[in-house]
Amino acid sequence: MRALTWHGTEDVRVEEVPEPELVNPHDAIIEITATAICGSDLHLYDGYVPTMREGDVLGHEPMGEVVGVGSGVETLQEGDRVVVPFTISCGSCWFCEEGLYSLCDNSNPNAEIAREMMGQSPAGLFGYSHMLGGYAGGQAEYLRVPYADVGPVKIESDLPDEQVLFLSDIFPTGYMAAENAEIEEDDTVAVWGCGPVGQFAIQSAWMLGAGRVIAIDRVPERLQMAREHGEAETVHFEEDDVYDRLMGMTGGRGPDRCIDAVGTEAHGTGVMGVADKVKQQAKLEADRPHVLRQAIRCCRKGGTLSVPGVYLGHADNVPVGPLMNKALTVKTGQTHVQRYLDPLLQRIEDGDIDPSFVITHQEPLEKGPEMYETFRDKEDGCIKVVLTP
Ligand SMILES: NC(=O)c1ccc[n+]([C@@H]2O[C@H](COP(=O)([O-])OP(=O)(O)OC[C@H]3O[C@@H](n4cnc5c(N)ncnc54)[C@H](O)[C@@H]3O)[C@@H](O)[C@H]2O)c1
Ligand SMILES: [Zn+2]
Ligand SMILES: [Zn+2]
Repeated sequence: MRALTWHGTEDVRVEEVPEPELVNPHDAIIEITATAICGSDLHLYDGYVPTMREGDVLGHEPMGEVVGVGSGVETLQEGDRVVVPFTISCGSCWFCEEGLYSLCDNSNPNAEIAREMMGQSPAGLFGYSHMLGGYAGGQAEYLRVPYADVGPVKIESDLPDEQVLFLSDIFPTGYMAAENAEIEEDDTVAVWGCGPVGQFAIQSAWMLGAGRVIAIDRVPERLQMAREHGEAETVHFEEDDVYDRLMGMTGGRGPDRCIDAVGTEAHGTGVMGVADKVKQQAKLEADRPHVLRQAIRCCRKGGTLSVPGVYLGHADNVPVGPLMNKALTVKTGQTHVQRYLDPLLQRIEDGDIDPSFVITHQEPLEKGPEMYETFRDKEDGCIKVVLTP
């Protein structure tokens, strides 16, 4: 089959790879009909994620048709149309039972590597390094889905792929980001990053009762989408001093809830920004915590910091003193996607939201390598890419 494979920094190829097979009674095989490129894929593309190997199949935002089921699968049949969450979860360990699906204790066969690095291993993820399971991803014609009764959500309506595809990741991610922000009625919510995750965080902040949403980025069409589709006020982080603007907009109090929807590849400004970039290149620091620093500084006392943005290792100069003395709450994590599938599908079916608003590019899988570059460089007005195998 054809698949997008990783071959090193900025080297994604379209290759012929073996088709997946059922290896466990709880597996299903999906024929992919639509698959997206995520901001998290850019961390692989840019070479920041350890334990990638040449030839790894990329992708973790897929949907398609079930074409094979193992003997132990109870809820799916051949012909079912499903969206597959990026988190692989067993459904029966302590963490899954608590709804903490991205922390599943059973789905990472390489848990030892992750344990060495983090103390304990989170769940396995599709197409996201050997440390997180070494699973082949969904930017391909076919995908093997382990624990097929736990992950995929069946789409029984005739909603087009474009409207339901993002249940795999970015809609639940934006929603969990807003939930983690502990938004109370009429709160002011600041969202750093107006990429796809930021856009869904903005939408979700309104759903959860925000009184005001302020979005921060520097890419004009992303800021425009935040204003026009997201009804947010916007701040351009290169034209304005973010701290001064946010203080000005909130009477010196700071936003009640701050969402970092940027993560490890933040553009830093000033000396610290340059230092982070140099240290990250030299592998002296894994992450560029520019937004984390700024959000801690800006957040109102006693407020909440929600971090959906992905960080990978250790970061320098994170202001833990201000974090502690301002009594901030921090909530973060890879999304517990399974927890959100039914309620968010319901919202789409009810017409509360049409997630396809973020799509700017729809291309054949063959154009994947080019699309990684376009999306990374934010060229051609690119906000979200959907590929069709
Ligand atoms: N927690 C999860 O489960 C989960 C799931 C999906 C994605 N993510 C992560 O969410 C983050 C965003 O994903 P995306 O798909 O929207 O990516 P993206 O790269 O399209 O968007 C990131 C945006 O941040 C902006 N940005 C960069 N530096 C900034 C700064 N200093 N201040 C404000 N904005 C800044 C960029 O201009 C860009 O528009 C990534 O780190 C991704 O890995 C996490
Ligand atoms: Zn993702
Ligand atoms: Zn589990």
